[in-house]
Amino acid sequence: MENPYQLIFHVEPTTGLLNDPNGLAQFNGTYYFFHQWNRFETNHCYKEWGLFTSQDMIHWEGHGSAILPDRTIDQNGVYSGSGILHNGKIYLFYTGNVKNNGMRKSYQCLTISEDGKTFVKQEPAIVTPPVFTEHHRDPKVWRGKNHWWMIVGTQTKAEVGTIALYASDDLVHWRYENKLCDDTFDQMCECPDLFPVNDDTDILVCCPQKRPTKGNQETAISSYAAYIPGKFDEDTQKFVGKSNPIRLDDGFDFYAPQTFQDELGRRIMVAWMSRMSEAEEQQCPTQQFGYVHCLTLPRVVKWQDGQLLQQPIDEVKQLRKTRTEFTASDKTFDLVSGRFEIVLTRQRFNRDFQLSMRNDAVSLQYNHKAKMLVVSRINWVSKKCETKVITLEQLSNLRIISDSSTMEIFVNDGASVFSLRYFTDADQLTAQYHSLATDDKLTYFSY
Ligand code: FRU
Repeated sequence: MENPYQLIFHVEPTTGLLNDPNGLAQFNGTYYFFHQWNRFETNHCYKEWGLFTSQDMIHWEGHGSAILPDRTIDQNGVYSGSGILHNGKIYLFYTGNVKNNGMRKSYQCLTISEDGKTFVKQEPAIVTPPVFTEHHRDPKVWRGKNHWWMIVGTQTKAEVGTIALYASDDLVHWRYENKLCDDTFDQMCECPDLFPVNDDTDILVCCPQKRPTKGNQETAISSYAAYIPGKFDEDTQKFVGKSNPIRLDDGFDFYAPQTFQDELGRRIMVAWMSRMSEAEEQQCPTQQFGYVHCLTLPRVVKWQDGQLLQQPIDEVKQLRKTRTEFTASDKTFDLVSGRFEIVLTRQRFNRDFQLSMRNDAVSLQYNHKAKMLVVSRINWVSKKCETKVITLEQLSNLRIISDSSTMEIFVNDGASVFSLRYFTDADQLTAQYHSLATDDKLTYFSY
């Protein structure tokens, strides 16, 4: 049976379960995207790092397994982490996960590759400092003025989410310094990241997580990806934030983002698409083809006028085939396939607008009076329409990118983004819009 959900320009596994992007780097011109992978089953019982490479982050080549859980200190999972280039080698930092009779232990480990193909695991690993629980994972490393820095997502003994800061002079031996900041992140902070956007501003990325319980039973985990603008002071070794955590993505499917800087100097962010509920994951329509989940399209992250903007990499434009421009105020039209881009440009921003795609599988509505943008999709478990809503003073432009079963909606030059999975039949190709003002323009590109 043909797979109507297959992605052509997003990273997805041919088999098993993929989750977080790991060790993102550009090495000798080639993009390396490692990822969390259970290559055996579509569940979370096993974790290793898989690898995809690309020359343009659009066309991908899968290389299968890269880092396996084959040591005592990573026997129950090679968990998430990051990559850095140094002296012509890739240094990959990951969390070795160990569970002995239900007792968790975490080790921050290093493996080095000279050719991007073989990875040599190093000693020693970082043992969790006694001030934290063994929920200590997802190392992110970068070069500072005088040292290498590493941040690790963790939990205090009082079960509050926080971030641990380490320093190193050789990338091999690390000393624990202090907590990165005084902010708290629910019960656990997963996948932290920290990067500069200009001389005065750094962005701290975090994934606060809560595991509410009812009696002894864990109920649905709640977690989301967020950022805090602020500044990391290398002398005091503290990050001071200027706000509470702000959601990075307003859609349904975006978690565990990681950034890296490529050879063009761009700061690129990629996330797992996505951390679904258990029912959504188990009933995800790709399960019948033996795999589940994908990564988002890489986005360029910029800081402009005190605002974080996320925009799709320019390389995606090479996929554009036909171009159709619409100016009529209302229209129903046929898409060539489930892979497309739709762009709305406007001269005046204080107007309503509605668009529905793939026979209402996904739709959006901007109501200027209510200053609300609503994005809806049909959920594949409940079969009902579900919505995400943001307050939006004005709608100046939209850029929507669909890859059969993913949709990424960039609003107002990427000041807000909605990422989501949706699953509909290949022949559901009707699109419809309303309220296009005379000086608005809607452009459809088939991919
Ligand atoms: C985030 C996460 C990480 C962990 C990995 C395990 O999705 O829970 O904290 O390292 O996934 O697969």
